[in-house]
Amino acid sequence: MSVATKLKRISVPQITAMKGGTPVVCLTAYTSLTAVLLDESVDLLLVGDSLGMVLYGMDSTLGVTLDMMIAHGQAVMRGSKRACVIVDLPFGSYQESKESAFRNSARVMKEVGCSGVKLEGGVEMAETIRFLTERGIPVLGHVGLLPQSVNTAGGFRSLGRGEKEAAAIVDDAKAVADAGAFAMVIEGTVEPLARQITGIVPVPTIGIGASPACDGQILVTEDLTGLFSDFKPKFVKRYAELGRSIAEAGREYAEEVRARRFPTLEHCFGTKAAKPAKVDPS
Ligand code: KIV
Repeated sequence: MSVATKLKRISVPQITAMKGGTPVVCLTAYTSLTAVLLDESVDLLLVGDSLGMVLYGMDSTLGVTLDMMIAHGQAVMRGSKRACVIVDLPFGSYQESKESAFRNSARVMKEVGCSGVKLEGGVEMAETIRFLTERGIPVLGHVGLLPQSVNTAGGFRSLGRGEKEAAAIVDDAKAVADAGAFAMVIEGTVEPLARQITGIVPVPTIGIGASPACDGQILVTEDLTGLFSDFKPKFVKRYAELGRSIAEAGREYAEEVRARRFPTLEHCFGTKAAKPAKVDPS
């Protein structure tokens, strides 16, 4: 492929420019294979730290390390050519100081080659977001329900029912946008609040359990494909039941191996097993 015809990756400014237009389509990807399969359909692939729960069976995202995020980010970049790829900063890699946030984000950018990083938090993270963006690291914000703060929040619940809580989340969203985030995820808030924030902030809001009015939507791929079935949040729509298909394939394989129906000579080398008959197209 010549340089001129090479597919161009969707850039961070292009995502920001989608504010108020055609919704920004985002999904998570943790592996090269998933990235290959989704790259054409989405605008943004997020290498989310949800991989700790979905791939590694952890109880929360807190055990995810920077090295894990870098390895999965590299895998996703190998499989993706077109989507804007963003990598989550894991718990403990950015909260201590804006300097350590820069060091760890720069490592992610260098070693993964992604377009930016995502971090959780509002007003309290604004200074860090400004520090990163002013030094060339695009930041996707994340407000509302913050999975990395599960222990201080005392669990997961939808947010923004009370006036005080809703006002605090609006302040968070404004602070994240003012600090220079190119877009922000709004997770697990009541619908009118996500709608209100979308009308206030100048950058795209990407909803998950938020509102159809958001400027974009994101889901965890293993949720929408039915691969992850430990629990199904209200905001997930299943577009496939791959988990069921994989379990069924495994059962059938086990049955055939035990009954010596697989493999047949057709699957062996150095045998004269009949090739499948050609189908007459007429
Ligand atoms: O970690 C993740 O996958 C996320 C998305 C669900 C927004 O943060």
